[in-house]
Amino acid sequence: MTELLFRGATVYTTQGPGDVDVRVVDGVITEVEPRGSLRGRTVDVSGKWLLPGAIDVHVHSRDPGFPEKEDFGSLTEAAAAGGVTTVIDMPNTVPAVDSAGVLEAKAALARAKARVDFGLWALIRSSSSPDQLQTLAAAGATGFKAYLGYGFDGARKQLLYAAESDDPGLEAPPDYGTLARLGPALASIGLPVAIHAEDPAILNTFKRPYETYADVLASRPPEAESVAISASAAVARQCGFHLHVAHVSSARGLASAEEAIAAGTRLTIETCPQFLWRSDADYPRLGNTMKMNPPVRTMADQVALREGLRRGAIGVVATDHAPHTDEEKGRDLEHALPGTPGVQTLYLSCLELAQQMGDPWLAPRWVSKGPAALAGIAQRKGRIAPGYDADLVLVDPKRFTTFTPHGMRSRQKHGALDGLRVSFAIESVYLRGVRVGTHAAGRMVPPTG
Ligand code: NCD
Ligand code: ZN
Repeated sequence: MTELLFRGATVYTTQGPGDVDVRVVDGVITEVEPRGSLRGRTVDVSGKWLLPGAIDVHVHSRDPGFPEKEDFGSLTEAAAAGGVTTVIDMPNTVPAVDSAGVLEAKAALARAKARVDFGLWALIRSSSSPDQLQTLAAAGATGFKAYLGYGFDGARKQLLYAAESDDPGLEAPPDYGTLARLGPALASIGLPVAIHAEDPAILNTFKRPYETYADVLASRPPEAESVAISASAAVARQCGFHLHVAHVSSARGLASAEEAIAAGTRLTIETCPQFLWRSDADYPRLGNTMKMNPPVRTMADQVALREGLRRGAIGVVATDHAPHTDEEKGRDLEHALPGTPGVQTLYLSCLELAQQMGDPWLAPRWVSKGPAALAGIAQRKGRIAPGYDADLVLVDPKRFTTFTPHGMRSRQKHGALDGLRVSFAIESVYLRGVRVGTHAAGRMVPPTG
């Protein structure tokens, strides 16, 4: 039996921040009691904050497929360094995760390398059958992801953006009709259905060469996001499945999502630190590090998203950690690949934002409690309470951290938050009661309801 007793920290408890002792036995929290009331060999964490580990529900490990960008080892090392103790990996690895066999092989590969716990999203293709979705769910998928506008290259088993592919054999992207066809099965399975919400017809209509960042914004107007959300939500509402809108980037997108919720849709909203901290005004300084889909938009969008978060309309902050190599990011604006790493800076950037809003204790809701519910693991993770996994992050609220490429553990060092200075530092991180290290210890955490 291994036992730990944390004493002296201010702890994020289910009743709010509290001065309590936390006992951990064999990786599970067993007792949370007033400070000084528990006996045992204590770990003195005086003056620190003890928070539940973050669950980043939107990462791209690139493993298997593109090890030169990232793999499960480097991804989860970066996650662990930033207080992210569970990652849920997107299915656009190669082969893409469209069947139970591929999911099981990916789980085995991830288990051998992961320093933190993980879950896996499964891919919805336009050709997916209800049976395939059932077997993916039975194999432990966290949920399903539909990339509107992204077709499937059957030879390479890879997801490709259809409008940019010259492959005539590319399988058509999933569309609202796909969601409607699979809707009854998705509703009965009960897992969340995440969407990449940019309407392809609108993107095609407004497409123009990217010479300046203004061209990016003109090519991908916020209406592409709001229309995709409204249309997908109409299907979700009729069929009764849970729609999760990934990486909401615009005020309009947020408004459409909230409208759909008001109309009775089971819908959850995710945004990302880059949309909460950056705007088009940052492009001259950050360059293509900031290029991603959907794009970082205007200051008005940033303000609206912060307000949505403060109000609780947005329940999940995730990173869309999407590494590409320096060569791929260093091309001109038109040809640079979209996406940027971010898993390591999730927790601290959210603590800083929450502190600026007047309540730093909001941050664990956005990165831990909300995501645990989405991923169906809220009975094990996302809280500091008896019976929960001892996924714990010790934060020093008196030490500053500046995000620099030098400090990043991802294989790719750049990030959209480069240069941001926050008034917190990660002191140490525990995964199921064990200090995270350089050895694999991660397990798959399938949803349990
Ligand atoms: C993602 C990636 O690189 O995998 N990139 C991005 O800009 N978000 C793909 C995607 O989600 O579109
Ligand atoms: Zn993504």
